[in-house]
Amino acid sequence: MSTSTADTKLNAITIRVAIIAALAGLLFGMDIAYVNGSLEFIVKSFTLTLSESQHVAGTLLIGAAVGAIFSGALSKKWGRKTVLIIAASIFTIFTFVGVFSPNFEILLVSRFIVGIAVGIASFISPLYLSEIAPRHFRGALIAMYQLMITIGIFLMYLCNSALAQTGSWRIMLAAIAIPSIIMLIGCLTLPKSPRWLVLVGRNDEAEVVLKKIRNTEAEAENELNEIRDSISVNSSGFKLLRHGFFIKVLILGVLLQAFQQFTGMNAFMYYSTDIFKMAGFTNPAVATIIIGLVNMLTTLLAIKYVDRFGRKPILYFGLFLLFVSCFIVGAVFKTHYSYEIINGAVQSHIVLSPVLQWTTLIFSLVFIFGFAISMGPVIWILCSEIQPLEGRDFGITASTTANWLCNAILGNFALTWLTFAPGNTFIAFGVVCLVCIGFTKLFVPETKGVSLEQIESNLKAGMPLAKLGR
Ligand code: BGC
Repeated sequence: MSTSTADTKLNAITIRVAIIAALAGLLFGMDIAYVNGSLEFIVKSFTLTLSESQHVAGTLLIGAAVGAIFSGALSKKWGRKTVLIIAASIFTIFTFVGVFSPNFEILLVSRFIVGIAVGIASFISPLYLSEIAPRHFRGALIAMYQLMITIGIFLMYLCNSALAQTGSWRIMLAAIAIPSIIMLIGCLTLPKSPRWLVLVGRNDEAEVVLKKIRNTEAEAENELNEIRDSISVNSSGFKLLRHGFFIKVLILGVLLQAFQQFTGMNAFMYYSTDIFKMAGFTNPAVATIIIGLVNMLTTLLAIKYVDRFGRKPILYFGLFLLFVSCFIVGAVFKTHYSYEIINGAVQSHIVLSPVLQWTTLIFSLVFIFGFAISMGPVIWILCSEIQPLEGRDFGITASTTANWLCNAILGNFALTWLTFAPGNTFIAFGVVCLVCIGFTKLFVPETKGVSLEQIESNLKAGMPLAKLGR
């Protein structure tokens, strides 16, 4: 594998294309964070019970799992660009359906369908980015998708808090329509993925796209040859299931996404306001905004360093911070928190000294930093890098669906766990992070600067997972 100076430069067209594709991440983030500040107004508007109100968050996550399941087959059949356009159209249309929904049922249906688009986008966007990125920027471009998620979350926290005065969940939701429309228009101008074009036998078109997005003709031709070599005729994700090498990366992708979710990050994303309320903060919304800001700024750092330091060192560093912060926050809650049930309602008791309150806040921020520098971006990067081309749609479908299913478990249950046993919940998240450090050492490959085709040929040659990037 040779590296010329040309393929170490990122050109303007690749940057533009990457930004448009990564807008899917922005919508993903905004839709996830929407519930955090709007739920109380939705509850008032439709006079919902507690269980009905949980469906607002839950239906989006279930829709996302459904979207992720089908996105592999769709993107293989119709191509990445077409499916991105479909996702952008669903975002736009059903966000408006939600804004104008006359009753709770229609709001739920619209959230479920937007969830499908979120699931599809969370699959296609990193896949498309990995397929158009020059290899030396692949990590950074996929991390940009993660950055967009965090920008989306932060913008929505800000928006929710700025619009809280209006008491209108409809206006809050309408804010999401703006990037949806921009994404829809932008997606129409995207080139088709050259790897998908080769996969469906349209080599000439692939060459035209590569010449447009690479710096030199030689670079484009080399890459086309590499892609062609990596495809063996008549193979599909399902057929690959007969091969041990494919099962191995399939399981690796699914476990990596499960680990990402069970670090507990989304417990903060959905319920940070409740966590800070429990810790006795009088203005938990401000703490939530700070969390969103740290998440976003740290992801910027990750983009800078992921292709410089490599995936594994960053994972070790981040997971260590996650482990330490989970244990410290867990210990504070375990020693100071109790609850009783009065008339069927949970009454929590916690008195923290200012030092312990600040300890909780600071280590919550260390947690967010640790996640955003490592597990957030790196897991999406790895999952889109490790699959062989013919099994990529199937493999990423499986890992993305695992991400959403585990996310749905957290979305639906974490608040209960946090209410009844916050100390043990954080400690359990810490244990997951510790196990993940060992898992990374044993099974995660270092893919920094290695072409997707090289990773694939190592995999097919039977190399152990941890050595795929050699
Ligand atoms: C995760 C999401 C999470 C987000 C937070 C993503 O990588 O997949 O579940 O909400 O990071 O920044």
